[in-house]
Amino acid sequence: MSLDVQALRQEFPILSREVHGKPLVYLDNAATTQKPQVVIDALVNYYSQSNSNVHRGAHFLSDEATRLYEDSRTVVANFINANAREEVIWTSGTTEGINIVSKGMAQRLKAGDQVVVTELEHHANLVTWQQACKHSGATLHVAPIDDNGTLDREAFTELLNKNTVFVAMPHVSNALGTVNPIVDLIRQVRTHAPKALVLIDGAQGIAHGNVDVRAIGCDFYVFSGHKLFGPTGVGVLWGKQAVLEDWPVWLTGGEMIASVSYQDATWGALPNRLEAGTPNIAGVIGLAAAVRWFQQLDMQAVQAHEKALLERAIELGAEIEGLRLIGNAKDKIGVYSFILEGSHPADVGFLLDRQGIAIRTGDHCAQPLMERLGVPGTARASFSIYNTLEEVEQLFVGLKKAQTMLA
Ligand code: ALA
Repeated sequence: MSLDVQALRQEFPILSREVHGKPLVYLDNAATTQKPQVVIDALVNYYSQSNSNVHRGAHFLSDEATRLYEDSRTVVANFINANAREEVIWTSGTTEGINIVSKGMAQRLKAGDQVVVTELEHHANLVTWQQACKHSGATLHVAPIDDNGTLDREAFTELLNKNTVFVAMPHVSNALGTVNPIVDLIRQVRTHAPKALVLIDGAQGIAHGNVDVRAIGCDFYVFSGHKLFGPTGVGVLWGKQAVLEDWPVWLTGGEMIASVSYQDATWGALPNRLEAGTPNIAGVIGLAAAVRWFQQLDMQAVQAHEKALLERAIELGAEIEGLRLIGNAKDKIGVYSFILEGSHPADVGFLLDRQGIAIRTGDHCAQPLMERLGVPGTARASFSIYNTLEEVEQLFVGLKKAQTMLA
């Protein structure tokens, strides 16, 4: 079954607006995806019909909000094939999820321990581990990539040993689109570093379908709602129940305790022990609406469509003199990062914007990766399921125009 992209587009009100007097061509989906009407409706309905605090009140609305909120946890748990709904911890997004894990891990790290990350990391999955190591005497090891942006599996495996206590890596690189073979890599970790826990930064992986945390075999998988057609300010930390059960608590306060005296406190059970304070209730409900919406799509068709968009971009890009594709891994999703010889990515982005075409430019929160690739930054077009082949073509027409203006 193929994707009915035109019908899909009708569900996203923002896609029919104009910018700078031109129809919007939104190609910045790795930064954030647009929201379908069902997600917008879920937010409006919650605030207009059910708004109340969860788990607290002895009244109708509080019960209703709690039911909507906790049902959302079940929706997400089923979506990622968690073992139990208690394994789904609500966060404000990927960054907070990684911080819960890294700050907890920092309390356990000691001199001699080793942590492994990759050269592909977003700052959120690098700086967190770098700082955790710095303050504990543990060492950080960075697994290299080749010039195409593919992780060097042999070098990765060589970094693993009995002192490796943590491995963190992205499912998909935000800057290059490289898809890491995480199942195989995790197998290597289990063989060579049996003590290590593994975290997968799923910020870019989650919207491309078929994330099954049990099949992946990691200990933690984190993602944001807003890159999955859901609201900003909400995300998920999934962790294996046995690991989360005694994970150091993150925020302390209401909701996460079992008992409190003036001198001490004991912590409640999962998931509450890692969710202090009033949560982003509307965001959680909106995220579940996004997941339900996404789940009814045919994942094979979604992946085939994204692949077609990327292939068309690669084909058209090859015709543009001076355009260099940055990130050419065999297995990559719809991220097209590039530089135009003789021009700054920011100028390219500006000139495309004037034509209604939204891309992102800069280092993509991956400064060390840019340095490794020898570029100051890139211009990045990132595709989603509602983009059309015509929009990809418009990008290159726009680029040719930009090139003339920059010459
Ligand atoms: N990390 C997001 C991106 O790659 C914001 O654009």
